[in-house]
Formats: sequence, structure tokens, C-alpha cells
Amino acid sequence: MTPTEPPRTPPDLVERLRNARRVLVLTGAGASAESGIPTFRDALTGLWSRFDAESLATPGAFARDPELVWGWYEWRRMKALLAEPNPGHRAIAALATRVPHLTLVTQNVDHLHERAGSPQVLHLHGSLHSPRCARCGQPQALPPGIPQEPEGGRRLAPPRCALCGGPVRPGVVWFGESLPETELARAWASAQGCELCLSVGTSGLVYPAADLPRVALAAGATLAQVNPTATPIDDLAHHNLRGTAGAILPGLVRAAWGA
Ligand code: OAD
Repeated sequence: MTPTEPPRTPPDLVERLRNARRVLVLTGAGASAESGIPTFRDALTGLWSRFDAESLATPGAFARDPELVWGWYEWRRMKALLAEPNPGHRAIAALATRVPHLTLVTQNVDHLHERAGSPQVLHLHGSLHSPRCARCGQPQALPPGIPQEPEGGRRLAPPRCALCGGPVRPGVVWFGESLPETELARAWASAQGCELCLSVGTSGLVYPAADLPRVALAAGATLAQVNPTATPIDDLAHHNLRGTAGAILPGLVRAAWGA
């Protein structure tokens, strides 16, 4: 072990990463946890331990109570805008400069990967920053600046579509909705063609995103996971790197290519 190498970086994974031409990185909420963005399912701090998904993240919730839903997403947008990318985001951006074909697929809606410098991020669950009309689908601009929302948001009337007058909705994928087809197809193709799949900070409980590591594995890829706690793919992964994204990923990149 060299002084720059963190203790939990297995040499065969480093070798695989250094030599791989096609790498898929799948990220979930844990990748942004060290930026202060709450995850969904962590026991005390996760959004779904404090808020009711059914009342906030479904098409029915928006139809029933658009003010509640819009206010909550504006609070989340505020948190994302006030957050900064962490060393894990930056390490993934650095990977894209080293690996010939790196596909970054995220379930996160905060845009911290882009702000860390990652090009071409595939957003499977949409974005907090691309609202659209709930009636006609027209993309909408958000007011400039950072919203000022109290913890959890407050009831806030959604803006109206300039085209048809319909209510504007967050550009995220809600429970019960389909994922964007093009992104999903590209993510699938990448899983089928990669030599190494890195699953970072996701509980692996939400499908179809949770299938991607299994698809990669079935196609012959090495599967590595970065997560401080166990997930359903622990038994499948070739490498379980127990720790946070911000602690593990920079060391992995350093171990493969030096500082
Ligand atoms: P979860 O909240 O389900 O899982 C977050 C994972 O990150 C857990 O396995 C944690 O152990 C891990 N974690 C926590 N801190 C970490 C850190 N610093 N570094 C690395 N890992 C860490 O979030 P997702 O798997 O992203 O969908 O959830 C998937 C989807 O469920 C989300 O996109 C969202 C949610 O409901 C929609 O809203 C449609």
C-alpha cells in the first residue's frame, strides 16, 4: 500500500479501473449526502423518514395539493442550489477525463454532478431544475435566484404555463411514472457494454435503476459498490467498498492514476 492509497482500495479493482475502456457509474442520493443533501431512506435523516412520499412524490399528490408539492420541491431546489459538489462528485468528474468511455447515470435531481464538471449526465429521475407544464408539457423557466424556503417548504402556488395556463410541475420522475425513454435506453446499453460498473450511494431499492448493476454483471462486467452500509447487491458485487463516496472515490482515482 502506498501512502496515497486508501486502505480499502483493492489492487485488482484499481487495475480493472485503469484498464477499462467502458465504465458505468450509477449514483444515488448517497453521492450527494456529503454535500448536505438528505438521502431518502437513511433512518433518521432520510426524506422518507420525515416526509410522506405518497403525499409529495406522486402525480396524485400534485393533482390533490399542488401548493404542498410545489413548495416542498422548491425547498429541495433551494437546498440543491445552496449545496456544493463534494470530493466524490469531483472524483467522478475526474474519472471521465481518464476513462475512454464513461457513462454517468444518476438518480439524483440536484445537478451536483454537472456542477462538479461531469459532462453528459444521464438523469433517470429527472431534475429539480427543469420544470414543465403539468397540462401541455411545455418546458418552463424558473425565476432567477435561490428560493427562500423554510425547512420542508411551505405551501406555494405553482407558476402557470405561459402557453396554456396549466400548473407548472417539478421536472422530476414521480412514483408511478415512467422514466425518460432515451436516458433509460442509453443507461441500459451502457450497462450491457461496460467492463466495470461502479454503484455509488444507492440503496438499490428503486427499479428500474436498481437493475443496472445486475445487467452489467450479467453482461460480464466487474461490479463494485461504494456505500457505508449494506445493500441488496452486496452478495453480487465483486468489491464492496465500505465508506462514503467522498472518502472512497478520490482514493480510487488516485490509486489508479496518481494525484
Ligand atoms: P436512498 O436514500 O434509498 O439510498 C441512499 C444510499 O446512500 C443508502 O444505501 C446509504 O447507505 C448510502 N449513503 C449514505 N450516505 C452516503 C455517502 N456519504 N456516500 C455513499 N453512500 C452513502 O437513495 P437512492 O438509492 O438514491 O426517487 O433512492 C433511489 C430513489 O428513491 C431516488 O431517486 C428517489 C427515491 O424515492 C424518486 O423520488 C423517484
